[in-house]
Amino acid sequence: MPREFASVGVVGLGTMGAGIAEVFARSGIPVVGVELNDDCIARSRGHIEHSTERALAKDKLDDAAREALLDRITYTTSLEALADVDLVVEAIPEHLDAKTDLFEQLSKITKPDVILASNTSSLSITEIGVHTPRPSKVVGLHFFNPAPVMALVEVVRTVVTEQDVVDDVVALAERIGKSPVVTGDRAGFIANALLFGYLNHAVTMYEQKYATREDLDAAMRFGCGYPMGPLALIDLIGLDTAYEILDSMYHQSRDRRHAPAPILKQMITAGLLGRKTGRGFYTYDAPDSPTVVADALTPDTSSAAANARPVRTVGVVGTGTMATGIVEVLAKAGYDVVLRARSEDKANGVIAKVRKSLDKAVGKGRMSAEDAEATIGRITPAVDFTALADADLVVEAVAEDIDVKREVFTALDAAVKPGAVLATTTSSLPVVECAAATNRPADVIGMHFFNPAQVMKLVEVVSTINTAPDVEATVIDVAAKVRKVPVRCGDRAGFIVNALLFPYLNDAVKMLEAHYAKAADIDTAMKVGCSLPMGPFELLDVVGLDVSLAIQRTLFNEFREAGFSPAPLLEHLVKAGRLGRKTGQGFWDYS
Ligand SMILES: NC(=O)c1ccc[n+]([C@@H]2O[C@H](COP(=O)([O-])OP(=O)(O)OC[C@H]3O[C@@H](n4cnc5c(N)ncnc54)[C@H](O)[C@@H]3O)[C@@H](O)[C@H]2O)c1
Repeated sequence: MPREFASVGVVGLGTMGAGIAEVFARSGIPVVGVELNDDCIARSRGHIEHSTERALAKDKLDDAAREALLDRITYTTSLEALADVDLVVEAIPEHLDAKTDLFEQLSKITKPDVILASNTSSLSITEIGVHTPRPSKVVGLHFFNPAPVMALVEVVRTVVTEQDVVDDVVALAERIGKSPVVTGDRAGFIANALLFGYLNHAVTMYEQKYATREDLDAAMRFGCGYPMGPLALIDLIGLDTAYEILDSMYHQSRDRRHAPAPILKQMITAGLLGRKTGRGFYTYDAPDSPTVVADALTPDTSSAAANARPVRTVGVVGTGTMATGIVEVLAKAGYDVVLRARSEDKANGVIAKVRKSLDKAVGKGRMSAEDAEATIGRITPAVDFTALADADLVVEAVAEDIDVKREVFTALDAAVKPGAVLATTTSSLPVVECAAATNRPADVIGMHFFNPAQVMKLVEVVSTINTAPDVEATVIDVAAKVRKVPVRCGDRAGFIVNALLFPYLNDAVKMLEAHYAKAADIDTAMKVGCSLPMGPFELLDVVGLDVSLAIQRTLFNEFREAGFSPAPLLEHLVKAGRLGRKTGQGFWDYS
């Protein structure tokens, strides 16, 4: 007979515990909440009241249901009140000693067949369990933040957890509307093991002043479709909690990428814990508020456009997917575009593709036939570089081969008027190499669009050590005028997005290779637990395993970071010709 779970206890009603108590109470299960003292109880109660008020405002709850929910939660400072509950979920801070002490006490107070669960994000459930007389009844029950919203729950089994305990907890998770995934006991389980390396990497970029907090966050939102940027997410998680999770992951993995970035400790010591204290990477209008307010680090964008060089005519070099998309985007925004191809046929081929795309937009009522005609009319095909002589900006989008690009830049240097901005769309080559092929390196910059350029909002604006400030301002201004979101970064492999994304994807492959979890569970954990638009294996298959491997190799070669070494499984799949969707087989089969 499955367990009934007539009532549950939650110990620690902070960021996570309060949300967990709300989730159980909302499903009709009475909750006994235990906190340290009356002040903590008042704060927890306020937290749950606010959260349910928001649910009320969003029509996710009515008044009667909210009252009943609040009535189902009792608050106490005494663990003895947990004597009769069927399950205890521990959600106190991420310290092993505190958790083992608590589990020892709980096992003395609670019923013999109670299930003791920890919401730890990274500590060993096995280690917590052995401090009780019944480790077979101990599991991890890892909710995601905010618990009332996020559907994923990782149910963590140890080598001694009884099967019926796992089954009952899985059934309970389903009953409260969550999507459980069962995992083994490894630091970070599935989602955090993959997420925190990425988060720490973003903090390191911020600490190194490689990019601003706004640009790091915008890059991942607009380049990858993530719901939040990494620094805003750490503010939500809590810097102290993030630090402890990274620290315990590091102790298990010994992977330098998990060693908490030093700035985290400094910010924690200064009391900047994130949203819960009203200040972390960003400043909020009040503790526990999601509303960001301007502070001393907020960039002043008012004068940026004033420094830009005037741009009327833009040259595009290339005839591939990116060049075609960029031509369309520029012409649609009203720029005169000179498209330089290696032959007239190729140039006309691009214009035909743009026409087809515009016709589609007209067919769907998104554009008038006159606008489509005017857009096409703004595009001039060319074969000779001299046709670009009067361009104010030239965007190079030829093959991803440095020799080919250098040749183009040498030709542009000879043909284009002085003062023009020369940009490359390279996604992985050093921009400075293109600059070095010219006699005007200060005018050369990276303008990295994402594929499909017509759809993706992000443009990474990559300045080299030589790029002039007004060249950067010009590209930012043009990106904004074509309704993209420009972010600035330095000339390093992977810029922002690929440098943050691909090591995470590679880590997922390594996790699969280690047989820790199945591809489907890993994809689910990242989609449901972190609200990412695609799981890592789905995304790798879309990008192409060969392309992904090449990017990962570039990152490894530039940074020589051991953790960036490409996963052997990725290399094998590429060798076997399983390149993802384009070959019909990758991590998944497409038939
Ligand atoms: N923050 C996240 O995004 C997140 C997500 C999933 C899991 N977790 C895990 O959940 C746990 C709690 O993290 P949090 O972010 O909610 O921390 P938090 O600091 O917001 O809350 C911890 C709460 O526990 C209370 N507390 C401390 N010792 C206690 C004790 N002995 N008895 C009763 N209450 C006690 C504190 O007063 C505080 O309210 C950690 O193990 C963390 O790793 C956190």
